[in-house]
Amino acid sequence: MNLQGHIKYLQMVIARLENIVFLCITLIYNGYRMDNLQKYKPTDKMVDLISDDYSLLQVMSRFGLSLGFGDKTVSEVCEMNHVDCRTFLAVVNFMAEGFSRLSGDHDEISIPALIDYLRQAHIYFLDFCLPSIRRKLIEAIDCSQDDVAFLILKFFDEYMREVRRHMDYEEKTVFKYVDALLQGNAPRNYQISTFSKHHDQVGETLTELKKLIIKYCPAKANVNLLNAALFDIYACEEGLESHCKVEDYIFVPAILNLERRMIENEK
Ligand SMILES: [Fe+2]
Ligand SMILES: [Fe+2]
Repeated sequence: MNLQGHIKYLQMVIARLENIVFLCITLIYNGYRMDNLQKYKPTDKMVDLISDDYSLLQVMSRFGLSLGFGDKTVSEVCEMNHVDCRTFLAVVNFMAEGFSRLSGDHDEISIPALIDYLRQAHIYFLDFCLPSIRRKLIEAIDCSQDDVAFLILKFFDEYMREVRRHMDYEEKTVFKYVDALLQGNAPRNYQISTFSKHHDQVGETLTELKKLIIKYCPAKANVNLLNAALFDIYACEEGLESHCKVEDYIFVPAILNLERRMIENEK
């Protein structure tokens, strides 16, 4: 190579380096900007988060973060429990702000951490929340003597089956697909868009159940117990709605990104 060739080669290397430096600065700036705009930040005290919005307790426990963290910050508590802080904050801020600030490659979250979180939420709804409402309903209304009471319980059982079907599909098909995608051997005949197109809200049927109870409540019902069951139904409905929104607005876009990166890598 002559002198001119060397100079050209050097110029090309410098241009590439400039591009890499620019990309790094953009990534750092975007991360910094997102961290500063979001409501809750890694440097906030975890106790302040919970005092601010106690419903975040559920997000914490689903991420495997236990109480007793003293004055530690969000990032310290996450680190102590080996939880991905960025993913935890993405969910927490989505709950608080009602929209996701994640936008593309530079806002990466941990997909395994998010799936763990969603799985824990399924366990909570199927094994704790819904069975506990059912027990309260049985205690509040005597199902053996009243047609409406019998109908309420039948309606509720059908609803529980519907939620189980919905979550079983996500566990056995969608999460399994994502696990395979992460390992680089995803089936060719499935994409996350198949899920997102048909992902329906599971909270809607509870609205019907609430109406049924409010309008036709059996006269002999224990009012305090029935109210307690109703409060739980309202809370469960809200919880399921926000669970589905996390799937639609955080999980699905993250998997779309992953699919896109996989396709680009294959080229
Ligand atoms: Fe789900
Ligand atoms: Fe869902």
